Amino acid sequence: MRILRSGRSGKFKTGVSMLLAAAACVCAASAVADAQRLWMNTELSPDKRATALEKRMTLAEKLRLLHGYPAGLMSDTEAALGSAGYVPGVRRLDIPALQETDASLGVANPDEVREDGRATALPSGLALAATFDPRLAYQSGAMIGREAWRIGFNVLLAGGVNLARDPRGGRNFEYFGEDPLLAGTLAGATVRGIQNQHVIATVKHFALNDQETRRRYADAIIGEAAMRESDLLAFEIAIEQGHPGAVMCAYNLVNGVHACGNRHLLSGILKGDWHYAGFVMSDWGAVHAVTDALAGLDQESAARFDRRIWFGKPLRNALKTGAVPQSRIDDMVHRILRSMFAVGLFDHPPQRGKIDYAANAAVTRRVADAGIVLLKNAHHILPLAAATPRIAVIGGRADLGVISGGGSSQVLPMSPDGQFPSVSIDGGPDGHALSGTLVLDPDAPLNAIREAAPRADVRYDDGRDPASARALARWADVAIVFATQWQKEGADAPNLSLPHDQDALIAAIAAANSRTIVVLETGNPVAMPWLDKIAGLVEAWYSGQRGGSAIADVLFGAVDPSGHLPITFPKSVAQEPRPRIPGRGHAAPRQRIKVDYRVEGARVGYRWFADQHLTPLFPFGFGLSYTSFDYADLQVASGRTLTVSFDVTNTGRRTGAAVPQIYLTSQAGRKLKRLIGFKRVALRPGQTRHITLTADPRLLADFDTAARAWRIPAGKYTIMLGRSATAPVATASARLESRTLPP
Ligand code: BGC
Repeated sequence: MRILRSGRSGKFKTGVSMLLAAAACVCAASAVADAQRLWMNTELSPDKRATALEKRMTLAEKLRLLHGYPAGLMSDTEAALGSAGYVPGVRRLDIPALQETDASLGVANPDEVREDGRATALPSGLALAATFDPRLAYQSGAMIGREAWRIGFNVLLAGGVNLARDPRGGRNFEYFGEDPLLAGTLAGATVRGIQNQHVIATVKHFALNDQETRRRYADAIIGEAAMRESDLLAFEIAIEQGHPGAVMCAYNLVNGVHACGNRHLLSGILKGDWHYAGFVMSDWGAVHAVTDALAGLDQESAARFDRRIWFGKPLRNALKTGAVPQSRIDDMVHRILRSMFAVGLFDHPPQRGKIDYAANAAVTRRVADAGIVLLKNAHHILPLAAATPRIAVIGGRADLGVISGGGSSQVLPMSPDGQFPSVSIDGGPDGHALSGTLVLDPDAPLNAIREAAPRADVRYDDGRDPASARALARWADVAIVFATQWQKEGADAPNLSLPHDQDALIAAIAAANSRTIVVLETGNPVAMPWLDKIAGLVEAWYSGQRGGSAIADVLFGAVDPSGHLPITFPKSVAQEPRPRIPGRGHAAPRQRIKVDYRVEGARVGYRWFADQHLTPLFPFGFGLSYTSFDYADLQVASGRTLTVSFDVTNTGRRTGAAVPQIYLTSQAGRKLKRLIGFKRVALRPGQTRHITLTADPRLLADFDTAARAWRIPAGKYTIMLGRSATAPVATASARLESRTLPP
């Protein structure tokens, strides 16, 4: 006999019979109660536990789980901890409430709804993607998950994996770039990290929410094969590798149907083809009808943001009339409970407690170090000598901190004195910049540069008066210009230019000092009309809680730069599939706009540039180092897929990390370009490592819509080992038999 009891301590076994006789009757009584609580038996599968619990719930209790409340300043429930959302639990059955918070870059605190709401701020998603390192993604996820759990949250709305189809995309900074393998792998690792802390992660925004302009009215038009081979593949990989408890459907429409009511996406692909067993929650205010439940939506988030609370009374009525069957309600409840069991929400509820902020800051630091990309290093101007006598630091509020992106992912950063700087940004009359409040993570590059070069005379100019900035640059032995591009949720960048005349400032500084280094803090690629006038260029993205120190250490060489671009930097928007952002500047309110992704289809980013024979400003995968790497002995073996192996050697004099990339360049005679493998490899000087990478067969295949399957055509497959998407080191070929894979 096995005696079970509810609560955190889980099960205990027949040895209990040896307990004192006095306790035996208490035990027997609780055993009866616990035997009925079959769902607390941790030996049962999450599915069995969910079924057992769902059977015990009344209809009213079930419906409670199906819609939530906003939990920010507009919250109407005191039980919410305060952040993005709240779904009440069921006390009678000890079903915990869902306390939901954003998101991927740290635990958010919208409108400072929680008084003690500071959290560790990670670098942006693009910075993490630039590391090409799933281990760092895992550590980032684990870090956020731990903090969230210690604050009392059990759901993180973290796991954004939309592809960067447009270099102006307002939320690209939250996501993992333009490639489905890279984005999916990193999102999957982040999800694993989060969920191992017993916090549900949410892969989002399903799907094709790839522009912010009029995101609620944007209709993404795309073919079936094209979406399976691009955006959906990123989701599919993230879900397979991470097993997220939740998937969040998006605001936009896909092929004419709202994402949260899109039966094809939710029931056909996600739950059907991919056998996804978790639940689908809506984005905040993205539900349009009670029938979205029939399409596959399981939970209406912050329901008050919708026109009606669809999954309240209307759902109950629909059940009465038979428009929504009881079996669907049960399935919705089952999926939510199943995820709660699978991730440990019943067995390991959040425990408020001390957070190790120093350890968490170290995680953000590792990501910042590994994600900074060295883009130009003329005459080896970098790393700078600590003995450089006069250093000018100009612009970018480098005296205050490093910038962060705005919107729901915004983290209010930790700092020693509990303060963080913020700046009000003016968009200007023509809207050529975004307006709003920019938060800076308070690790100021200026201080860090002073620490890295303690004997140097380091002077700062904010860059607002070009004449004074020029004079400082002329005085200095080296001029470091910080250039910023702020991005936020809900708006795309109006163009590729750095806002607020920073291009003119950089050009003026470069004219005054040939030893000018530009440090970019951007949420997206930017155009660089001054590129050939400057000596050094570093892309630091939004570098988080310890960003200033990471930037200084890269500039002075304490850290070897090893980041690689996860997104193509175009020369201009004319190179893009849509030079104009659909819906920008016109269209009546609430008028739907079409975003025609059929132009590029699955050829997102570097794939498009290769197909159109376009030369970007900087290609996907590009990144320099202070050391050098050589490759040898590229081999490709075929079987059910391709297995590629090669040696990589650090031929320089410094320890560094290489990021070899394998691209498919020809598929049974058809030219194309697809990343099919990558690896971040840390190497000491002279060290060689043998690397083997196995391609996910879907990356060798095409999606056959008629057959609803992946098909690998028979023939010769050529792969290239590259330092970037456009820098081949070697190529090799192998033959593959034709093969079909399930969707
Ligand atoms: C965003 C989601 C976010 C939610 C809750 C929405 O506006 O699109 O990413 O999780 O708000 O804050």
